[in-house]
Amino acid sequence: MPLLALETSCDETGAAVVHDGRVLSNVVSSQVRVHAEYGGVVPELAAREHLKNLIPVAQTALQQAGTTPDQLQAVAATQGPGLPSALMVGLRAAQAVAFVLRRPFLGIHHHEAHLYSPWITGQPPVADFSEFQPNVSLIVSGGHTMLVQVQAEFKHRLLGATVDDAAGECFDKVGKLIGLPYPAGPEIDRLAEQGNPKTFDFPRPMIHEPHDDFSFSGLKTSVRYFLRDHPEVLTDASRLRDLCASVQAAIVDVLVAKTFRAALRLRLGCVTTSGGVARNRALRKGLAAACERENLVLRITEPNLCTDNAAMIGILAERKLAQRAPASSLDADILPSWELGS
Ligand code: KG4
Ligand code: ZN
Repeated sequence: MPLLALETSCDETGAAVVHDGRVLSNVVSSQVRVHAEYGGVVPELAAREHLKNLIPVAQTALQQAGTTPDQLQAVAATQGPGLPSALMVGLRAAQAVAFVLRRPFLGIHHHEAHLYSPWITGQPPVADFSEFQPNVSLIVSGGHTMLVQVQAEFKHRLLGATVDDAAGECFDKVGKLIGLPYPAGPEIDRLAEQGNPKTFDFPRPMIHEPHDDFSFSGLKTSVRYFLRDHPEVLTDASRLRDLCASVQAAIVDVLVAKTFRAALRLRLGCVTTSGGVARNRALRKGLAAACERENLVLRITEPNLCTDNAAMIGILAERKLAQRAPASSLDADILPSWELGS
């Protein structure tokens, strides 16, 4: 069924057309430049950008898919969680399209969509759930760091989450301390490649604690104190690369250790990951090495589907409708604090 999906939960305006598990088009307009001068996402600006960009983005998605609106069999949008004013734009637009076309509308949980994105692979991307197996899923982005036990398709349980900053937020805040533009994660990844991760010993918060929660604000603070005491690092390109590698190693060590502890404890043979930080090369390597050591299957989301996109929303919506999930109401409201599994 050709399905149009919209995603506007944060700072990416996304539209995608999916059909029988295939992603026919996936268009994302990033607002990164708009928010960069503020060092983070400004909700009011995000909503305004979504309003400006959504129709052109959706039009491009339909064009690239070679689909006309009357061919659409269903419409989906992110219903939550996310920034209220941003969510509103995509949800109301999708409901209006569904109303006019007289097609079912489905409101999708943003994190649930991340959970299934590791099963979308290839170019063009196709969702293949034939190899699906119960797993521990790590969702790591600028807004979230969570571990989820995925027991079966559409059956999952939140194991733990960050109690303060998300891992991506930690990358971004450390980047700000060393003068990198927002979002700093990709640049720290690049600088760290030529640095020595063992140069500086930063804390690995909560790495040995038995629960599945995370905390990254202490790490950021220790980098701030370190730079106060060693300002010369900022003007030495080689030491700066070592700093990036050392901070990145601290973040990655915690993410990998806690993900694997959960997988082993729950006796799950598969680990998956998604979200913007899942693009990080050290994290991808760290997870791959640990999976090989523990003989676990690893599914890492394709880099272009790690960051927020509408393809993952569409794939999940189509899968749900195919399994006879009831459509959402055309006046269903946004759920900015929607908890996973509720
Ligand atoms: O999934 P995403 O678009 O979600 C949010 O909107 O939260 O992820 C964006 C986050 C930013 O914090 C960015 O710095 C981080 O993902 N990020 C990375 C990398 N690419 C993106 N962090 C570390 N290494 C990367 N290669
Ligand atoms: Zn996301």
